[in-house]
Amino acid sequence: MGNSNSSCSSLNGVNSGKSAISTLTSDLVNGYVFFHQCIPSNPVRVEFMISGPKNKTHAIHIHEYGDLTKGCESLGSHFNPTRQTHGSIYVNNMPRHSGDLINNITFNNEGKFYFVYEDSTISLYPTSNLSIIGRSIVIHDKQDDLGMGVGINKQESLKTGNAGKRICCGVIGIAENKNHL
Ligand code: CU
Ligand code: ZN
Repeated sequence: MGNSNSSCSSLNGVNSGKSAISTLTSDLVNGYVFFHQCIPSNPVRVEFMISGPKNKTHAIHIHEYGDLTKGCESLGSHFNPTRQTHGSIYVNNMPRHSGDLINNITFNNEGKFYFVYEDSTISLYPTSNLSIIGRSIVIHDKQDDLGMGVGINKQESLKTGNAGKRICCGVIGIAENKNHL
């Protein structure tokens, strides 16, 4: 959360920094994830505006590749430049993939999901090894278990969060540099 936009504009002007977007379109899901970063040392502001099945929760991640040769299947695994196990921002001090984002999105009773947060484990600057430009967003059929799976689910939990099939995806491309308010 926080107030990156005001610090961004006071530091460098309204149109400073870098922006990126992934548009998401399928039978079930429509919308976008918009990214903005003021300067390389700042976190990335991530804005989700997505519609989908009412009252349903679906996993969402950044995956490693932007290769749609086989649709969502050729986008690789979770973006993981720091070689961590799968985890969650919602569990204190838990290792996680840079691509784990907020793990899940829940559409409300009108089928909408809107959320903004800041992420320090990704970058929009191409010289950073955390750069997400040219990678992808994937939405899954099931809910991400935040790496907390037990028993026979544990091993897969620490890789994918047992999120299931890929139901929608989009490549992360460079966007016009808007400073969303
Ligand atoms: Cu995923
Ligand atoms: Zn992950």
